[in-house]
Amino acid sequence: MNISIIGSGYVGLVSGACFAELGNQVICADNDAKKISDLKQGIVPIYEPGLEELIVDNLKNKRLKFTSSIKEAVRASEVIFIAVGTPALENGEADLTGIENVARSIAQNMDGYRLIVEKSTVPVETCAWIKKTIAIYIKKKHKFDVVSNPEFLREGSAINDFNHPDRIVLGLETLKAKQIMTNLYQPLNAPILITNIKSAELIKHASNAFLATKISFINAIARICDKVGADVKEVAQGMGLDNRIGRHFLQAGIGYGGSCFPKDLEAFITIAEKLGYDFGILKAVRNTNQEQKIFVLQKIKDALWIIRGKTIAVLGLAFKPDTDDLRNSPSIDLINALIQEGAKIKVYDPKAMEKAAKILKHVVFCKDAYLAAEGADCLIIATEWNEFKELDFIKLKKKLKRALIVDGRNIYDPKLLMDLGFTYLGVGRGNG
Ligand code: UGA
Repeated sequence: MNISIIGSGYVGLVSGACFAELGNQVICADNDAKKISDLKQGIVPIYEPGLEELIVDNLKNKRLKFTSSIKEAVRASEVIFIAVGTPALENGEADLTGIENVARSIAQNMDGYRLIVEKSTVPVETCAWIKKTIAIYIKKKHKFDVVSNPEFLREGSAINDFNHPDRIVLGLETLKAKQIMTNLYQPLNAPILITNIKSAELIKHASNAFLATKISFINAIARICDKVGADVKEVAQGMGLDNRIGRHFLQAGIGYGGSCFPKDLEAFITIAEKLGYDFGILKAVRNTNQEQKIFVLQKIKDALWIIRGKTIAVLGLAFKPDTDDLRNSPSIDLINALIQEGAKIKVYDPKAMEKAAKILKHVVFCKDAYLAAEGADCLIIATEWNEFKELDFIKLKKKLKRALIVDGRNIYDPKLLMDLGFTYLGVGRGNG
């Protein structure tokens, strides 16, 4: 199939590269000319495992093209995905300016039937607005359909998530749209759920909000665990074995971050408010997430007494492993709070150092975990990269000034570390 993807961010690039790999002719468009000229040479602006190889391969075999001209993309493809950013406005609402601009450009450049597929995370009723906008700006009376096809991929495992989705959600209104979309996704052999457009739009926000709720819930349980001496990992395991609860997204830590959960939760709360519903549960989820960062900071303070002048090593900057994305990273919030308290910060992250150098001031960037640990009064695990799970603890202990580990992601076995002579503080591991 000939398809275009407007917007070459995470979702756009991953979807574009994966659709090309499935054998489609794909054009990815973006109005950032520098990004497009880099992509044409196989230079990918984000770190996502496997993405660069996929883009380079499909550029070579000419199934994937990049352009900064929406017109070119619209003219060349029957199916057009919208995957532009929907950043948060100051009041928490999603800014849909990009979506409106794209809808207008599609309308102005259509020269026949087009299927417009909305993939960005948007408020319910956005597709209705896209439909109205296209109807207003369309030049001739070409036919078109609008489909809501929310994306559920996670950064760090985006390609695998795209190729092996738990479900594909298609909110649509016509048989033609159904046929085209089911054909397009047929090679993935995944369950397809066809719904009306508004339901599909809501499924995305409801899913992200529910996952964030699970995380805040287990973080609240972690607080209780610390008070009574229980281990949140055991509690989560026991809960997760119940199929109705499920074991995923029950890892307590320093709070959720990233470009999706904080923004989407805020947007969903605002959407509900506009509709006259006070989404109290989600407000509590958001507050618990904020409190979690303060709680971890307090843990560090309790262990070090005076923060001012102390050297603290922070391992992990990205909001989660296998990405260099720092947006709303709880690690960055924690570092900034520690700097405010007067700490000297040394950091190491396997992939996010370059991006961090642009936003973090007054920290020492180290080439590896051991160099970061050298002379530190405390070592914090802020992101659960695999390489941190395999550190040589004897070597690490020699480097540290004080053998104190605050394991913000609960990646270590407390007993093992305590037997080696470390003071170990996890999140909800029952030891303060
Ligand atoms: C999230 C959703 O998981 C995807 O399904 C969705 O497509 C995406 O948002 C989006 O809307 O685009 P993502 O933000 O990439 O994906 O990453 P997650 O793996 O969901 O992690 C989000 C945050 O939650 C991270 O900070 C992570 O550390 C935290 N988390 C996750 C926990 O603290 N505990 C957990 O058990 C799981």
